[in-house]
Amino acid sequence: MSLKNKNILIGICGGIAAYKVCELIRFLKKSEANVKVIMTNNAQRFITPLTVQTLSQNRVYLDTFESEYFYDIEHISLTAWADILVVAPATANIIGKFANGIADDLLTTTFLAFNKPILVVPAMNSNMFENKIVQANIQKLKQVGINVLEPEAGLLACGVYGKGRYPENRKIVIEIERLLEKKDLDGKRVLITAGPTREYLDPVRFISNRSSGKMGFALAEEAYKRGAKVTLVSGPVNIQTYADIEIVNVETAYEMYEEVKSIKDKYDILIFSAAVADFKPKNFRESKIKKEQEQELQIELQKNPDILKYAGETKKDWQIVVGFSAETENLIENSKKKLYEKNADLIVANNVLQEGAGFNVDTNIVTLISKEKVLELPKLSKEEVAGRIFDFIVDYLCRR
Ligand SMILES: Cc1cc2nc3c(=O)[nH]c(=O)nc-3n(C[C@H](O)[C@H](O)[C@H](O)COP(=O)(O)O)c2cc1C
Repeated sequence: MSLKNKNILIGICGGIAAYKVCELIRFLKKSEANVKVIMTNNAQRFITPLTVQTLSQNRVYLDTFESEYFYDIEHISLTAWADILVVAPATANIIGKFANGIADDLLTTTFLAFNKPILVVPAMNSNMFENKIVQANIQKLKQVGINVLEPEAGLLACGVYGKGRYPENRKIVIEIERLLEKKDLDGKRVLITAGPTREYLDPVRFISNRSSGKMGFALAEEAYKRGAKVTLVSGPVNIQTYADIEIVNVETAYEMYEEVKSIKDKYDILIFSAAVADFKPKNFRESKIKKEQEQELQIELQKNPDILKYAGETKKDWQIVVGFSAETENLIENSKKKLYEKNADLIVANNVLQEGAGFNVDTNIVTLISKEKVLELPKLSKEEVAGRIFDFIVDYLCRR
């Protein structure tokens, strides 16, 4: 999902986290979205319209009655313009007004006139947030279909620990993308494996590979944005996601296999994008191998369980199994063989020797292969590849 050319209307309120919205505006502008901002009177005590205007590259809307053009009623024209309204930070005060239909300034009036997705991002002192009246107001908003992003727990600006902190802006961006994305995976449960595995020789040394996990994480975020409930079983990686995804961390191929085995029947779509080690050392040394004790070291390897094959062989009628195939030669031929041998529904094949494909880069060049179809894709970002893979999966599901 790209935010390019999307029209995003932000409402900033008078909370201490108002300064953090400046970074949100920057993220959205970098994604080539169009941003317009309404500030409440009290928001202007925390940050200036000048800052917001400069960052959003648009004039800032401050007052219901300020328009020079009597024929342009701003709370209506902004509503027509925007694809989504994001209220961040949302104060206890504005939440109370929203929940009770009060329309005494430009933001509250626009809110009532807005009939497209709305995202409210509360941020306040934890006692305020936990106050029963504030909670009842939040429930009221949720009940009428307003999306409320829960604040985080941590050290608050007022010096206390508790729930009420403004969430990471990257998390807000993901929620915006989710709300604007098509929901063709609504109700689907998706299991994805990602990253490398580590096969230990002794307590400190292991055999692994260069997988970064980026492809698996991009798939997980894409599925989440399209409405799925997602679990990611990940080997050791240095990336994180801000999407509301369940993550199970594993290290070895065997741990990944055991995890997949125990949970796989709860999912509709299973995607195996992890670069699982095919082999592991036959003998694990309980203590560190000492160089003084060995002149030469032979490592004997034994096969790891084949997770994709296991999932293909045991798949239920309602499940679809997607495998990844990293090849260095005969890409389509080898991948088709894999599709049949592993009883998979789809194979995502890539030639890892091609520049811009495979491990540890932000792009990928893949060919999507089912029994009926072969679709070669150009070099795309891993996020775009994830989108195309799910388009292919949705098409496959529709034709099944
Ligand atoms: C320094 C300071 C920080 C504040 N921070 C918050 C906050 O984080 N969240 C909140 O709900 N209210 C906060 N308030 C209270 C609001 O500013 C106050 O309720 C105000 O009426 C909100 O106006 P608005 O919702 O129209 O922007 C703060 C007030 C002050 C003086």
